[in-house]
Amino acid sequence: MEVTVDIYRYDQETGAARFDRFVKEVDPKDRVLDVMMDIKDYDDGTIAFRKSCGHGVCGSDAMQINGINRLACQTLIQDLKSRSIRIEPLKGMKVLRDLIVDMDPFFTGLERIKPYFIPKESAPVTERRQSIAERALFDDTTKCIMCGACTSSCPSFWTNDAYVGPAAFVKAHRFIMDSRDGGNDQRLEALDDKDGLWRCHSIFNCTDACPRDIQITKAIGELKRYTVVHR
Ligand code: FES
Repeated sequence: MEVTVDIYRYDQETGAARFDRFVKEVDPKDRVLDVMMDIKDYDDGTIAFRKSCGHGVCGSDAMQINGINRLACQTLIQDLKSRSIRIEPLKGMKVLRDLIVDMDPFFTGLERIKPYFIPKESAPVTERRQSIAERALFDDTTKCIMCGACTSSCPSFWTNDAYVGPAAFVKAHRFIMDSRDGGNDQRLEALDDKDGLWRCHSIFNCTDACPRDIQITKAIGELKRYTVVHR
């Protein structure tokens, strides 16, 4: 089948932005990333975008595809149900070049919630044990690949990039709900801040955008309850 692909182009030096159009013959089961690689290899090698694993693990190729945040490597042409494909950078982040955005504000929010295990007690002789029920409390939020699709779908982030944001909340949830972790007081400082949890208005954009189907709005609700109880 033939598709028309419009790709956003941006040159930071001149500030010029435009869409470049390519008409390609594709297999409906091709992924958007396959088509982009084909365009880069055979039509225009100057197009800039990020990708690494190609299999939905690294999170580097999140972008807007037909107006929705998705991973290019996980999106089949046939699932777009359209012969027109419009590819744009993630919203709410400064564009550096074409589809590459500045992820610094995203990672600043992440750093604020200390996204790593802080042991509650000194290391035991054997492993730190946990029941199946305790592990289940944060099973969903371990799936995050930090692609930024959730945070860049949030209007609170579009207007304030100091907002800690959904991806950081997911990571905070993963550690706060972990019975072995002891860093919650430090994380509460960022969560209960003016740029923290309370800027979330539960509109579910983040949940809809997540390529890993993490129930992000539910996790944020659990963090809000935790914060009220433990502040
Ligand atoms: S290239 Fe790694 S998630 Fe798509």
